[in-house]
Amino acid sequence: MTTKELQDLIMEEKKKRNVCILAHAYLSHDIWEVADYVGDSYGLSLQAAKAPQETVVMGGVRFMAETVKLLSPEKKVLLANPLAGCPMADQITREKVLELKKQYPNHCVVAYINTTTDLKRAVDVVVTSSSAVTIMKNLPDKNILFIPDCNLGDWVQKQCPEKNFSFIHGGCPTHMKIHASTVEKAKALHPDALFAVHPECIKEVVALADYVGSTTGIMKFCKESDAKEFIIGTEQSIVQHLQMECPDKFFYPVSTDLVCHNMKMTTLVDVYHSVVGMGGEEIFLSDETIREARTCIDRMIELGG
Ligand code: 13P
Ligand code: SF4
Repeated sequence: MTTKELQDLIMEEKKKRNVCILAHAYLSHDIWEVADYVGDSYGLSLQAAKAPQETVVMGGVRFMAETVKLLSPEKKVLLANPLAGCPMADQITREKVLELKKQYPNHCVVAYINTTTDLKRAVDVVVTSSSAVTIMKNLPDKNILFIPDCNLGDWVQKQCPEKNFSFIHGGCPTHMKIHASTVEKAKALHPDALFAVHPECIKEVVALADYVGSTTGIMKFCKESDAKEFIIGTEQSIVQHLQMECPDKFFYPVSTDLVCHNMKMTTLVDVYHSVVGMGGEEIFLSDETIREARTCIDRMIELGG
């Protein structure tokens, strides 16, 4: 079977079975083409609550499928590839958060969305890379404990000098592989290129950027810019998507190491299997978990605009 034939089959089956396919921007282009919505973590959360279909297939990592379930508990939610997790989400547990709350008693605990559902039961508000600054500005609290990504936290802190931030050490192992020297090398090879970067990168890398933002933000910046060449400081798939969407521009990965193997797990066949009921993993969360973990997600949507 060709890719096109499989895509046609998925389109036919998802319509027949009333299935919505959500895909994170890091998924491959063949999956983008069959998805009802592609976007960053914030966009996916908003879409999850809106989708009219009864079944949602999430092409992304586990916390994303769990977020969909939290927002739409009445829907059947499937994670297309059950092995796709996020190593950052496993860096900190709910028990650790409860300990931290004792150490930081007068702090609002702000968690990156890349965390477990269990942890979300214990935090005050969740943020994503595209919504974090807006949420911080709208949050009445002055003292913030930002977990677990201290790189995203540092970028947010610089834009919110009115708040007092505390961090714990954590972050995305994929984005943290990039160092300032890697960027300097890429800039030397492509001196006319603009550098667009994700805030999960370390601060020395972020400091060298012409644009900093979420996956959707990076794509929008490159598409709308008059520049013709771009060095991309996020997962490599974004380079391919931009090449497909803007064939008259040139996109270079800042490093060939910037690959998230978890995001690469999901294939078009996994999506097909999930749509027709032959695969994927259905997400089950207890009513109590949904009630407790949803509060911080609802707050994200309320404060995120
Ligand atoms: P965004 O798409 O929200 O920028 O998230 C990037 C990411 O690393 C998701 O795991
Ligand atoms: Fe997790 Fe980083 Fe992969 Fe995103 S890119 S899923 S934060 S490991």
